[in-house]
Amino acid sequence: MSLNIVVLYHSSHGSVEAMAHEIAESIEQQGATALLRTFVKRQAHDIVISKDDLIHCDGLAFGTPTRFGMMASQAKSFWETTSDLWLKGQLIDKPACVFSSSSSMHGGNEATLLNLSLPLLHHGMMLLGVPYDVPELLSTETGGTPYGATHVAGTNNSNVLSKDEMKICHSVGKRLAQIASKLQ
Ligand SMILES: Cc1cc2nc3c(=O)[nH]c(=O)nc-3n(C[C@H](O)[C@H](O)[C@H](O)COP(=O)(O)O)c2cc1C
Repeated sequence: MSLNIVVLYHSSHGSVEAMAHEIAESIEQQGATALLRTFVKRQAHDIVISKDDLIHCDGLAFGTPTRFGMMASQAKSFWETTSDLWLKGQLIDKPACVFSSSSSMHGGNEATLLNLSLPLLHHGMMLLGVPYDVPELLSTETGGTPYGATHVAGTNNSNVLSKDEMKICHSVGKRLAQIASKLQ
């Protein structure tokens, strides 16, 4: 049976988008289909998320930039339209992971990952972090946390991921697809 994993993100300067693409690539390497979705249409290739995408997906990777230690408002506005899904329990037991980018190393990216997790937990989704058998968690000098993949973009908003950040993105996409497959 085919697996559809939604990679849902917001990105203003390209860092979270770069992470979304790395995660999507590793999902596809597992033989699953990665559906890249955004909250608003900013570029020609953007496909805006629908509630049906979530209802029918087998897993979700969800990321936004760090905004004062929280998720981007575009994402929060969307989640506030999903009470009907919550009432019907339509996302319960779907596996999920979260990812984010920040300008500064200690600028709140871990807090943002926890904030991104909250609506998913309310919906009954099963949150996957990054286990410490991913060696880059210990070697990274920029992003990467046990709560999810992160990227430190710096004040010049670089969307070039470090080798370790990229490996951690790959590990979360791979694990999400593998767990979704086991649950299926
Ligand atoms: C309103 C606003 C709030 C932000 N808050 C933070 C913050 O709390 N900590 C931080 O390190 N960067 C913060 N940033 C910077 C973004 O998180 C950073 O540029 C991120 O890499 C952007 O991701 P993107 O390239 O996908 O848009 C903020 C940016 C904006 C516009």
